[in-house]
Amino acid sequence: MASFAGKLPTLLALFLVEKAEGTDKFGIVKPFPENIYPIERTSAEVTCVAFDLSTESKKKTPERILFMRRNKSGRYTIITETENIYFRNRTEEVVEDGKKSKKLFVTMVIRNVTLNDDSTYGTLGRYECHAFAVGDPVERKHGFYVNVILKTEIPTVTVPEVIVLRHSENITLACNLTEGEDGGNTGLKSISWYKDGVLKKTLRNPEPGNPQGSFEPLKLSNVGVKDGGNYTCLLIVLLRNKEDKKYSVSDSTMVEIAAWLDKQKVDPEYQGYKGRNVSLECPAKGFPLHVEWKFKKKGEDKVRSCIGALDGKYRIHRKGIYEPYFLTLTDLQYSDRGSYYCCLPSNCSDSVQGNCQRFVLRVRDPLGPLWPVIGIIVEAIVLFLIIFIAEKRSKNKKRGTKAISSYRVFSHDVTAAILVSQNNETAAILDKRVEFRSSSSIDSDRGQVRLRKVGETADA
Ligand SMILES: *[C@@H]1O[C@H](CO)[C@@H](O)[C@H](O)[C@H]1NC(C)=O
Ligand SMILES: *[C@@H]1O[C@H](CO)[C@@H](O)[C@H](O)[C@H]1NC(C)=O
Ligand SMILES: *[C@@H]1O[C@H](CO)[C@@H](O)[C@H](O)[C@H]1NC(C)=O
Ligand SMILES: *[C@@H]1O[C@H](CO)[C@@H](O)[C@H](O)[C@H]1NC(C)=O
Ligand SMILES: *[C@@H]1O[C@H](CO)[C@@H](O)[C@H](O)[C@H]1NC(C)=O
Ligand SMILES: *[C@@H]1O[C@H](CO)[C@@H](O)[C@H](O)[C@H]1NC(C)=O
Ligand SMILES: *[C@@H]1O[C@H](CO)[C@@H](O)[C@H](O)[C@H]1NC(C)=O
Ligand SMILES: *[C@@H]1O[C@H](CO)[C@@H](O)[C@H](O)[C@H]1NC(C)=O
Repeated sequence: MASFAGKLPTLLALFLVEKAEGTDKFGIVKPFPENIYPIERTSAEVTCVAFDLSTESKKKTPERILFMRRNKSGRYTIITETENIYFRNRTEEVVEDGKKSKKLFVTMVIRNVTLNDDSTYGTLGRYECHAFAVGDPVERKHGFYVNVILKTEIPTVTVPEVIVLRHSENITLACNLTEGEDGGNTGLKSISWYKDGVLKKTLRNPEPGNPQGSFEPLKLSNVGVKDGGNYTCLLIVLLRNKEDKKYSVSDSTMVEIAAWLDKQKVDPEYQGYKGRNVSLECPAKGFPLHVEWKFKKKGEDKVRSCIGALDGKYRIHRKGIYEPYFLTLTDLQYSDRGSYYCCLPSNCSDSVQGNCQRFVLRVRDPLGPLWPVIGIIVEAIVLFLIIFIAEKRSKNKKRGTKAISSYRVFSHDVTAAILVSQNNETAAILDKRVEFRSSSSIDSDRGQVRLRKVGETADA
């Protein structure tokens, strides 16, 4: 009897809760707090929302939300702000049928999750949100779990650290998968190789027993500059085997292609023109690639190393990380004549032996190539003049003895007109007052032209 009396307040409280929950709809509403699977040493957060869903005109106003833990013995612990835990809150005004009411959102943030935050680990127990309304002593609850994933549970992938290859080598890149402790708890979704973010190869649902065996290494054969880059092995797992708890682990490595110089047998010669620009193309290849440009002025022995860093005359450029380097010289002067060298890195030494490609630069007058053309034109003009003069002179000589061209004099007042055609047989009257006649014979060059006024007799 005494024990029943002792339980009475509890029963009464339960009854009140039931009644309250039955008659009004104030409480934790959707979206409900999720069961979360944070990974240890990461941050995690959970949000609870308190609102009155009833359609009554007088809605309850949420006052606060408390986060609590409740252990199996029914013991509650209120979660308070610590260095590791803090809360954020906000309210929203909801308008329904012209009536305003408040919705309260409170978020609990765990900065650095540890196993102690797990619902099932330790003595604190599971989590609950408790919602309180203004003027209502009854609290409304909603529970959730925090399932802390330990780092050791998660499989890992490892790839070699740095790989330096020589061009045209063949290699295989292996991605070693190590299953986590308690391996069966974490599902393997896929394992893939990416190069600079581009998928190269993927295997879905690797066999849990032998994931390594079913994922063949990446083969690189006859490697070239473009095989250099950032290779990433990416593994997607399902935490606690839950399809919606995808988690990815990865490891990356830089594949470098050792630089080499495809030296030309004959040093290339470049022709530049004063005041113009010239670009020299370096034959060095590699990834990543660095080159040094050096200059030995014509007639000097001193080598200027690492040109281009400060001097605005030089511009070192390339179109992309796999493309060759260029040295552009601007506003060429005769003093730029000499030998240029593109070298593999040498800490800016003045040596041009070994890993250097030499270029010979000549600088010319920009009008230089025009001179031969101008010469030809001048020559042609002179020749033309000579021919013209010669012809004119020979024509003058023959005048009067031979009528070789059509020649016309024409005027109303003129008293003489000559019109002689090539066949020497034309006679024409050009004017009513003037009669024009000519005659000549083939065997004689001499022609006669008679002019007389109309009316005059031929004898006159
Ligand atoms: C989280 O806490 C652990 C010790 O409990 C500490 O070693 C680690 O550095 C912390 N991580 C962060 C991100 O604060
Ligand atoms: C919301 O946060 C502010 C400070 O960030 C605090 O003063 C206030 O009491 C909080 N309100 C509720 C309902 O938790
Ligand atoms: C619940 O918490 C109390 C007080 O911390 C403790 O004495 C009790 O053993 C806990 N119960 C369980 C099941 O962990
Ligand atoms: C991967 O595994 C192979 C064989 O088990 C081993 O030889 C290799 O060193 C491992 N590589 C890395 C990066 O761990
Ligand atoms: C790389 O493999 C190719 C065939 O795929 C072969 O012709 C070549 O000789 C190999 N190169 C080296 C350096 O082993
Ligand atoms: C390689 O790529 C991965 C994934 O994109 C990135 O995390 C890593 O920092 C990159 N490494 C280098 C050296 O760029
Ligand atoms: C030479 O290069 C400079 C700088 O790159 C540029 O401004 C200029 O227009 C170029 N001159 C000629 C003639 O191309
Ligand atoms: C350049 O100098 C650094 C340190 O001074 C040295 O480690 C490196 O080997 C040198 N490189 C060459 C190509 O001489």
